[in-house]
Amino acid sequence: MTETFLNAAGPDPEVLLTRAHDVILPSPNGHKPPPIPPAQGDLHVGVDLGTAYTVLAVLDEQGIPITGEYRFTQVVRDGLVVDYIGAVDILREMKHNVEARLGRDLTHAASGFPPGVPMAEVRSTANVVEAAGMVCSDLIDEPTAANNVLSIRDGAIVDIGGGATGIAIFKDGQVVYTADEATGGTHMSLVIAGGADLSFEAAEEKKKDPAQQSRLFPIVRPVMEKMGTIIEKHIRGQNVDSIVLVGGTSLFPGIDTVIAEITDLPTRVASHPLFVTPVGIAMHDQSTYKY
Ligand SMILES: Nc1ncnc2c1ncn2[C@@H]1O[C@H](COP(=O)(O)OP(=O)(O)OP(=O)(O)O)[C@@H](O)[C@H]1O
Ligand SMILES: [Mg+2]
Repeated sequence: MTETFLNAAGPDPEVLLTRAHDVILPSPNGHKPPPIPPAQGDLHVGVDLGTAYTVLAVLDEQGIPITGEYRFTQVVRDGLVVDYIGAVDILREMKHNVEARLGRDLTHAASGFPPGVPMAEVRSTANVVEAAGMVCSDLIDEPTAANNVLSIRDGAIVDIGGGATGIAIFKDGQVVYTADEATGGTHMSLVIAGGADLSFEAAEEKKKDPAQQSRLFPIVRPVMEKMGTIIEKHIRGQNVDSIVLVGGTSLFPGIDTVIAEITDLPTRVASHPLFVTPVGIAMHDQSTYKY
């Protein structure tokens, strides 16, 4: 079953993603993460400005994740940068933290964009990277970035993030269809907040707490069903035989089962789904700069 998702020639996604999960840390709130051993050679840097999380991923010359940082941000909506100054400040700070751990500067980075976002808006993402002090070496659409890591030949990658569910269909390893609809993890948090009379922030924390998730499942299930219906509508008639879920919301236990039921297709969650797209974006940072 798993083999149908993997391109035997690519690096093992499981190894890459486990490594990413170990080294890409939440933004330090006052604490100081230890420095990491010095990395020689070119670095590959990826910036993922999402609706919910900004992720900065750093890979070594071999494409292995060595460090990075992520933090909850609200600077992007529907793929559009809605708080430019905030995005630049946050990214600059994250870059500074990562540089301190690495002991060297990050001079360039690739960035990503959800499919369907107008090019003028995509450029504002590059402007954020540049204003934070890095040359934007490349801009890559998110499904292609995710598939750099997963190497799926035929099937669908569904990215369930904070603000949206993004569907990408692959044939022979190439994206042949994409769609993006505005239902994501934020909507699950809003349902929890409304039902329990909590602030959005409190609901967001509760939703991510493993001890609460089975109790919250019936409350958020209708949102998951809506995601399933969106996915089903887009993949119907497209000869898709399996689905891989990426994005932070696919961490909610049971979401794969709900989506499998609605689409009637085998559905699995990628390992450490939060880091698939950021690592894939970093793989596109193929700068020839030498240090
Ligand atoms: N353990 C968890 N369980 C459930 N949801 C989670 C968990 N960890 C993170 N999330 C949710 O994942 C979402 C963020 O995922 P991700 O970083 O993929 O989104 P994004 O890229 O910022 O958003 P988008 O792609 O929609 O712009 C948030 O809604 C967050 O609450
Ligand atoms: Mg995203």
